[in-house]
Amino acid sequence: KRAIRVALLGCGTVGGEVARLLTEQAAELAARAGVPVELAGIAVRRPDKHPELPPELLTADAEKLVTSDDVDVVVELVGGIEPVRSWLLAALKAGKSVVTANKALLAEHSADLFEAADAAGADLYFEAAVAGAIPLLRPLRESLAGDRITRVMGIVNGTTNYILSAMDSTGAGYAETLDEASWLGYAEADPTADVDGYDAASKAAILASLAFHTRVTAADVHREGIADVTAADLGAARLLGRTVKLLAICERVTDDDGVESVSARVHPVMIPRSHQLAGVGGAFNAVYVEADAAGELMFYGQGAGGAPTASAVLGDLVAVARNRVAGGRGPRESAHAALPVRPMGQT
Ligand code: NDP
Ligand code: HSE
Repeated sequence: KRAIRVALLGCGTVGGEVARLLTEQAAELAARAGVPVELAGIAVRRPDKHPELPPELLTADAEKLVTSDDVDVVVELVGGIEPVRSWLLAALKAGKSVVTANKALLAEHSADLFEAADAAGADLYFEAAVAGAIPLLRPLRESLAGDRITRVMGIVNGTTNYILSAMDSTGAGYAETLDEASWLGYAEADPTADVDGYDAASKAAILASLAFHTRVTAADVHREGIADVTAADLGAARLLGRTVKLLAICERVTDDDGVESVSARVHPVMIPRSHQLAGVGGAFNAVYVEADAAGELMFYGQGAGGAPTASAVLGDLVAVARNRVAGGRGPRESAHAALPVRPMGQT
């Protein structure tokens, strides 16, 4: 069988682990996918800074790589909106499938991307965009597609959870723990996206869109970060038998007239120490999903970092490869638009 040829865009914290695992586990991945999965090219900003990568694969020209005839799948691990949005739309229009971990892009432009994927009959997978290694989006898109989800709630940002956990357990300072989270590869390129709640709001938008089969963008999400949470706040919470976590809360809401809508918000919450979320430390994430028939489900695991995120990316890549082998494709999302979204701030 002809191999599935992969264009890897970005080879930093996550992309570097994807490249490593694709190479080291080539034989196992081929067996699981039913076809060899090979790197066709790797686009980075500064090829000269990557002596660890095969020079014949390296390019600074992502725009050219994504539409190359030699490429079947584009794996995007650069981040940000432009030029990434244009690259991915061009790739989808050229019939390439896309795997991305880019929550900021999906939370703003998923409609364009889903439409382009559907028009081309291509796959668009993004498991790594929310909650790192935790299989969460595939359960929402597939396993729970027959149920009626009423609530998705939990910790979806590893960096802020790392900071709050350290401040709570050791009394460490905010700035020092943020530097640690960046050094460990958890934080975004601009860590204000983490601490000001933008990253969690993007994830909440993606979760609400999938859970409630509607379109929620980051701008629809009420957002507060952790910049104003002090050591004194955590101390006071401790005296009350509580701690502080940054939570994303996405719900179906029914108003007094029986009209249903979606509400999504991100803000610090004081929770009892006896609550399971209080025990979620470091860069771990934990998300509760409540559905009519299933009841309550809990998803827990490493929410950030190179290898955990690469695990989710590779799972998506195997799914794309399997779909190609079977001549089919993954779930469609472009036909949504059912529930109205509550204006930001209303809960
Ligand atoms: P990094 O900053 O570590 O890596 C970014 C990569 O993109 C680098 O290799 C960089 O090249 C490359 N790049 C930047 N600009 C361009 C350009 N114009 N053309 C080609 N390549 C370019 O980011 P991460 O790996 O941490 O994150 C990547 C994505 O994954 C982001 O969307 C992030 O939100 C998401 N994500 C990250 C997680 C994490 O834990 N880190 C977890 C889940 C999702 P160079 O190496 O030359 O600088
Ligand atoms: N910066 C993000 C976080 C990476 O800390 O959760 C994972 O999406």
